[in-house]
Amino acid sequence: MTATGSDGLDEVYAFAVQLGKDAGNMLMDAARERIGDAGQSEQFTEEKDSAVDIVTKTDEDVEAFIKSSIAAKYPEHKFLGEETYSKGSSRDYLITDAAPTWCVDPLDGTVNFTHLFPMFCVSIGFIVGGEAIIGVINAPFLNQLFSACRGRGAWLNESLPLPLVRNPVPALPQQAPSGCVFSCEWGKDRRDTPDGNMHRKVESFVNMAAEPGGRGGKGGMVHGVRSLGSATLDLAYTAMGAFDIWWEGGCWEWDVAAGIAIVQEAGGLVTTANPPQDLDTADIPEVRLGSRLYLAVRPAGPSPTESGRQGQERVVRQVWSRVRPLEYARPGA
Ligand code: IPD
Repeated sequence: MTATGSDGLDEVYAFAVQLGKDAGNMLMDAARERIGDAGQSEQFTEEKDSAVDIVTKTDEDVEAFIKSSIAAKYPEHKFLGEETYSKGSSRDYLITDAAPTWCVDPLDGTVNFTHLFPMFCVSIGFIVGGEAIIGVINAPFLNQLFSACRGRGAWLNESLPLPLVRNPVPALPQQAPSGCVFSCEWGKDRRDTPDGNMHRKVESFVNMAAEPGGRGGKGGMVHGVRSLGSATLDLAYTAMGAFDIWWEGGCWEWDVAAGIAIVQEAGGLVTTANPPQDLDTADIPEVRLGSRLYLAVRPAGPSPTESGRQGQERVVRQVWSRVRPLEYARPGA
């Protein structure tokens, strides 16, 4: 039996969930050490590409634990983790179809962790044939463990199926994005370049938030705008149905692999953040893991006039009509 055959996959899934629990305990132990020691973040973080791109010893310790646990159990699998990747000079997309690959962020929401803002977690994705088919996200300060495996459902704390509201799963609002909770991230690319990514994001956020008809007809009047500071938790909350829409550019495959597996297994749609030329008629492409451009829409039930999928595609086009294209090109993706 291969590790990814049906029985093998159950075993990999159980292993991934246990790994998420153990790594979450490590994060929580580190957070407890920080409690009473707040204010020391400068001493305990190191900068990577910028002052907001930081790594802590916890990121490195948890990644080392996860990496060695996987190597011991599945030596034939590949491993891609945020901290080992960041230390290399390559920014290429390294996931191939050659072998099952673990794509791991040991601590997503590092800034949150350093400030003891509870939205931090470990995020473990398992990729086969280029697709994330297992996702485990453990946010220990929140007592929230999200998990999913292709064909086995998506779960909160292993007992509550996602999305949470499911009898029936609500349709998306007819006037969407009006009535939706919109989640987005400022990200780490803070270059104050005119018409650069940060300014394009801000313009897009304002379009989504403005009153209907405002901003040349682009005003989306969403119910609320949220930023958790953890891309993978944004996706988990989209799978939960707490967020209707998540739009983001600039994060990396380890920030999203587990979350994408969970959203898709819950019945959500994940595609690209960037609007195509003909946004009314273009096909909705499948998300590309290494694209650094992501748009997710929550699981949706049917309405009297459309299927859940039609509602999701309608919302994708509504978002595309309000957002600016972002530029995060990289080799190999
Ligand atoms: C970051 C978070 C953040 C996203 C950044 C990521 P990290 O990950 O997911 O929400 O906007 O692009 O890099 O550094 O906290 O693991």
